[in-house]
Amino acid sequence: ADERLSDEALLADPVARIDAVGGSRHPGIALPRDLFAPERRNSEGIDLQDSDTLAAIAAEIGRHSLPPAPADLADPAAAVARARAAADDWSARPVEARAACLDRLADLLEEHRAELMAICVHEARKTIPDALAEVREAVDFCRYYADQARAHLQPVELPGPTGERNILRMEGRGVWVTIAPWNFPLAIFLGQTVAALVTGNAVVAKPAPQTPRIAARAVALAHQAGVPADVLILAAGGPDTGAALVADARVAGVAFTGSTATARRIARALLADDSRPLVPLIAETGGINAMIVDSTALAEQVVQDVVTSAFRSAGQRCSALRLLLLQDDIADHTIEMLKGAMNTLVIGDPADPATDVGPVIDAAAYDRLMAHRTAMAGRIVHSLAVPEAGHFVPPTIIRLDDIDDLQAEWFGPLLHVATWKAGTLEEVVARVNAKGFGLTMGLHSRIARAAETVEALARVGNLYVNRSMIGAIVGSQPFGGEGHSGTGPKAGGPHYLPRFCAERVTSTDT
Ligand code: NAD
Ligand code: ALA
Repeated sequence: ADERLSDEALLADPVARIDAVGGSRHPGIALPRDLFAPERRNSEGIDLQDSDTLAAIAAEIGRHSLPPAPADLADPAAAVARARAAADDWSARPVEARAACLDRLADLLEEHRAELMAICVHEARKTIPDALAEVREAVDFCRYYADQARAHLQPVELPGPTGERNILRMEGRGVWVTIAPWNFPLAIFLGQTVAALVTGNAVVAKPAPQTPRIAARAVALAHQAGVPADVLILAAGGPDTGAALVADARVAGVAFTGSTATARRIARALLADDSRPLVPLIAETGGINAMIVDSTALAEQVVQDVVTSAFRSAGQRCSALRLLLLQDDIADHTIEMLKGAMNTLVIGDPADPATDVGPVIDAAAYDRLMAHRTAMAGRIVHSLAVPEAGHFVPPTIIRLDDIDDLQAEWFGPLLHVATWKAGTLEEVVARVNAKGFGLTMGLHSRIARAAETVEALARVGNLYVNRSMIGAIVGSQPFGGEGHSGTGPKAGGPHYLPRFCAERVTSTDT
């Protein structure tokens, strides 16, 4: 932080402060090639900035071809019945035995890292850094939930005035259905699944129809790690398979990650039949994620973090930046710098180690995004050339007249930009909150009071100050939103596992 100027001095003169804090005012400035630096992993130790390392990983990935897709689940009711029959034995196992399975699974994921990365690259069309982060996050989820289970799921004796012995037990609820999106086809698919398993539940796990292969490998490795075949059942298939599983009255909980619209359908289905027990739904959904930038922010840092947040993973992260809110006196200058930074992005085959941005997941996503882009054609201020073949959506900046002009999540590399006036920060946050989503928000400012204001007012699950808005780290940055963005609890956080448990208390007269 700059120590030469007080908050008051920084607020007083918008132009001078850009110079005072060392921001460049040169349009199109070349940024370093670590634009998409690998996410900060505490245990990874692989340097993807080193081109030899990257080339070696790419070569290893190249040795693996895409396996055949697993067959769709033919009979969802039979899968739930099998899981139900296996659930009690699994729940009766000591927590340590279940946690040990997760640790073994983490080891197996690491052993098979190249193979898993190859499937992520070829099936989900992830770039190599994204595929590496995907496997890393899956490993982190397994180890973190194993540790959390050991620490928090043992029976505890509760103190109190009753003169009785009161024991609280955290036990499995029965069969959970886990339903995953395609954009984190290993990390999220496994994260919600191993959380349900380690808490003593049997699981019927449904991947997205776009990414069944990586899920099938993950389930096979979990079985190899000691999870019985009937305790974890793969349910490959599309929305109909998911709907059939959710409608099954023997299901004791649903953990879902995907769109808000699907979450609502699932919530309605769970309540449709009055004779059915009330069961928990954990829903992690989308967002209209904004980054607010004031004129004290460091321009180069802003540009780097905007490019990473909006365009890494081709914008296909629930956390990704959708709406950049620039203070009006730095808007033109920042957009010029952004254009220059975007022009350095390499767009192409995700298997190529040089690629920064790959295609979007499929033709349907491509058509949706391109239709929006066409509708906004008069507002596009910058756009990149992309390969013609494949579903490449051009990374694009769309300039809006007003913050309220964006009211939907566009799940791809389309960045909307609007401006705001000095002195209206509270109103800006209120208008973002008013969209009803609450997943991620970013702030770039060198004014401590601005960060305090946004922290106090923003209704989001994850606020990122003076950094990018993506790549939450398991155990350090528990992830998940509120409002239209989800129910909580936060994945990768200390309060996640209890939601999968039945809490039972026995009080015995001593
Ligand atoms: P989606 O809602 O279309 O599908 C998600 C999953 O739900 C798929 O497995 C799908 O087959 C299944 N499904 C669809 N209809 C169903 C129904 N009626 N009953 C049961 N299951 C059903 O979402 P998507 O396109 O795969 O993923 C993109 C969305 O996911 C984006 O909105 C993104 O923001 C969100 N997302 C959120 C998070 C988070 O942690 N908050 C993480 C990743 C993605
Ligand atoms: N956990 C993912 C991220 O933070 C969604 O980007």
